[in-house]
Amino acid sequence: MNAIPETVFRSREVERVVTGASVSDGAGVKLLRVLTSDLQRRLDPFLMLDEFRSDNPDDYLAGFPNHPHRGFETVTYMLAGRMRHRDNAGHEGLLTAGGVQWMTAGRGIVHSELPEQENGLMHGFQLWVNLPARDKLTAPDYRDLPAEAIPAYTADDGVTIKVIAGESDGVAGAVQREATAPLYLDLELPPGATHTVAIPPGHNAFVYIYQGQVELGRRGQRVAARQLAVLSNTPESDGVLLRSADGARLLLIAGRPLHEPIVQWGPFVMNRREEIEAALADYRDGRF
Ligand code: CO
Repeated sequence: MNAIPETVFRSREVERVVTGASVSDGAGVKLLRVLTSDLQRRLDPFLMLDEFRSDNPDDYLAGFPNHPHRGFETVTYMLAGRMRHRDNAGHEGLLTAGGVQWMTAGRGIVHSELPEQENGLMHGFQLWVNLPARDKLTAPDYRDLPAEAIPAYTADDGVTIKVIAGESDGVAGAVQREATAPLYLDLELPPGATHTVAIPPGHNAFVYIYQGQVELGRRGQRVAARQLAVLSNTPESDGVLLRSADGARLLLIAGRPLHEPIVQWGPFVMNRREEIEAALADYRDGRF
């Protein structure tokens, strides 16, 4: 048994465990929706997290044909498979294993996300990150980050960490955002590992286990694969303690809350109802 590292003075604990729900989205893609609208306030600035994982082409071949977004950012992280992105701002990219696509929908984008494989495993995640009110109508932006553009390191305890956004142990991630300061880490814990991750106090944080099982916090609450653990905003806590007896893979996601009203209508997320109506009208009249 490893001694508990001292880098985290006071660990957050598990406030709530959420099990993902199977849903179908796009043209019939089977997904596990783990962050749902009832958690948007508590996990502000995060609006949604889906995991897609299937080796049955019937579950993913239809993909996500042309559809709009406004008012937030979508972050797609592929672990296995190939997905083609095209949008009406002229961007095109092929997302492959280990790669990330960070898309700022801003004032509006229409895009398609279509699998470029007819068999084999398709596995990845899509996270929605809110934009502050002042940036909701910003120009759309799109970044393709192949696996080699995602900083990764192995800590002394053998834990491998990919830093998609934010900063971890002094390693800057591929993406930084001022308003929401998202921290997006993919961690692989070898069997018996004990590891701490620093999280700024006051930022909302959660862990999603996608393989194995983890004991979280000093209380060691057990969280299993396909479960999301909301981490407490304990005052003075400076991070979280993770342990895994048999090894695990997980996402750790945290961000600075915006504390602004959230009004969502499908792929549009604004602050007020009238802004949703304007989004619908703009989309209908081809102004995206
Ligand atoms: Co989309």
